[in-house]
Amino acid sequence: MGVIDSRRSTRCFDTRDIPDELIQRILEAGIRAPSGKNRQPWRFIVSQRNDKRDYMIESARNKIIRMLEDSPSRNDLHMTLETFDIMKTAPVVIYVLYDNTSFRTQIPSDTGWSMAATDREALDLMAIGAAVENMLLKIEELGLGGLWCGDVLYAYQDFVDELNSGYVLLSAICLGYKSGLPGKTSRRPLTELCKYI
Ligand SMILES: Cc1cc2nc3c(=O)[nH]c(=O)nc-3n(C[C@H](O)[C@H](O)[C@H](O)COP(=O)(O)O)c2cc1C
Repeated sequence: MGVIDSRRSTRCFDTRDIPDELIQRILEAGIRAPSGKNRQPWRFIVSQRNDKRDYMIESARNKIIRMLEDSPSRNDLHMTLETFDIMKTAPVVIYVLYDNTSFRTQIPSDTGWSMAATDREALDLMAIGAAVENMLLKIEELGLGGLWCGDVLYAYQDFVDELNSGYVLLSAICLGYKSGLPGKTSRRPLTELCKYI
């Protein structure tokens, strides 16, 4: 079975650290992704277990707990807490950011491009998604497990203030050695999702 078929979101990691060389190979896989006009709009911040990381995730967690005090039945917030707990246990968290500075400063008359900024932004976001998927597949190929965490956006400002990068935060990837088997997931059939014309 190839890595596309075997990859599953991993939510339980064991305590082993990940060698720097493997982290480097995962990042290299990310930047091999295609991007519109080869803009390579992705940026990454690698965070290993340390006090700063614990503090950052804990402040984000506290924010969600405060939100839950107002809306205790919000299931999405409970799931976000679970995601933040997973982030705390993962040996490595890679924050995925978008450098949108070039697209904000280039105006069409300078570049000769007529594409609307929003369209370029959509292309950049797709490219960053491709980079993340490349990384998840490399994580699987290396015998590790990964989890794509969009829930960081529930505490966007808390993470952005601590990361202090000047870029737009899009998501995070947790990675580590798998502990136990990830749960099964299903997919809707292709007949519902695709048509031939
Ligand atoms: C953009 C994106 C954001 C996601 N964010 C989260 C998250 O914050 N927490 C989480 O537990 N899973 C997250 N997931 C994982 C999905 O829940 C998972 O991919 C889906 O349920 C299918 O399961 P599989 O990856 O095992 O095939 C995210 C996936 C994507 C693509």
